[in-house]
Amino acid sequence: MTSTGTWTHKDFISIEDITRDELEILFKLASSFKQTLGRSQKKLPSLRGKTLVNLFMEPSTRTRVSFEIAASRLSADSIFISASASSLVKGETLRDTARNIVALNADLLVMRHSAPGSSLYLSKIIDIPVINAGDGAHAHPTQALLDCFTLRERWGSDFSGKKVTILGDILFSRVARSNIWALQKLGAKVTLVGPSTLVPEYFSAMGVEVSHDLKRALVDTDALMLLRIQHERQTSTHFPSLREYTSMFGLNAMRASWLKPGTIIMHPGPINRGVEIDSKLADSDHSVILEQVTNGIICRMAVLYLCASAVNPVSREEVI
Ligand code: CP
Repeated sequence: MTSTGTWTHKDFISIEDITRDELEILFKLASSFKQTLGRSQKKLPSLRGKTLVNLFMEPSTRTRVSFEIAASRLSADSIFISASASSLVKGETLRDTARNIVALNADLLVMRHSAPGSSLYLSKIIDIPVINAGDGAHAHPTQALLDCFTLRERWGSDFSGKKVTILGDILFSRVARSNIWALQKLGAKVTLVGPSTLVPEYFSAMGVEVSHDLKRALVDTDALMLLRIQHERQTSTHFPSLREYTSMFGLNAMRASWLKPGTIIMHPGPINRGVEIDSKLADSDHSVILEQVTNGIICRMAVLYLCASAVNPVSREEVI
C-alpha cells in the first residue's frame, strides 16, 4: 500500500522546487504503480471522473503519449490540444486559453511550451494543477524523474559515489538542467561535457563539473546521458557542422571502449542515430533508452496522482 505522504504541491514545475524527501515520495509511488503494469487489469480508479488537458505547443512523442497513457491508467479522461489546432493561432493569449480550459471543467493541465517560465506563469493564474512537460530550455521535470527512477532501480535510493556524465548540447537542454537538480539531490556527482560553445563554464555554478575533455569525462562515469543537438532552440551556429560535432563528441565504439564495463547509456529521445550516438550503441545491452520511456508512464502517473490529491484531499486515500 502506498500513501501520498506529505506531498503538498498543486503544480509540478521544476525539480528545483522539490525536496529529496518529495522525490522519494514520487519514486515510491511510481514503484507501486510499476507493479500494476504487469496486471491484466492495468487501470486504477484513482482519478476516475477527472479530465486532463494536454496542451502541447511544441512537438512531442514520448511525453505526450505517456501522459495520455498515465491518465488512462488512473481512469482519467485526457484531451490533447496542439498549438496549430488551438485558438492561439487566432490571437488568443495563453492566459485566456488556460482560463477557458478551466472553464471547460478540466481538472489538470499538462503543458509543453517554448517559453521558459510559461508553466509557472499559468500555475499562478489558474487553480487546477499545472504540470510542466517542458518549457523552453528551462526545465523538463518529469523527464528527470523518469531518468532518475531508471537509475534508482539499479543503484538504490542513494546515488552517493556515482558519477553521471551528461554529454552534448547542455546550453539548450531543459533535460540537462532538470537532471542536474535531480541527480545532485539524490547524491550523484554530475559532469557536463561537450564543446565549450554548448557547455559554458558558468554551469559550474550549479555545483557540477564542466569538462571539454571527452575521454577524461568518460573513463570513470557510471551513467552516460547523451543529448540531441537542439537546432530548434539554437539561434546561431555553435559548431561548424553536425559532421564535425559527431567527429569530436559523438559516442562511437572507440569512445565507448573508454567507459567502464557496465556503464549505463541513457538518452531522453528523440535520438539522432549516427549523430550524438552510434546506432549500434543505442540498441546495445548497455542502453536503457526504451526502459526510460516505459518508466515515463509510472513517473507521470505519480505526478498526476499527487498533484490532483493536493487540490482534492478526498482523493488522498491510499492507492494500489
Ligand atoms: N524526451 C522527450 O521529451 O521526448 P518528446 O519530445 O518526444 O516528448
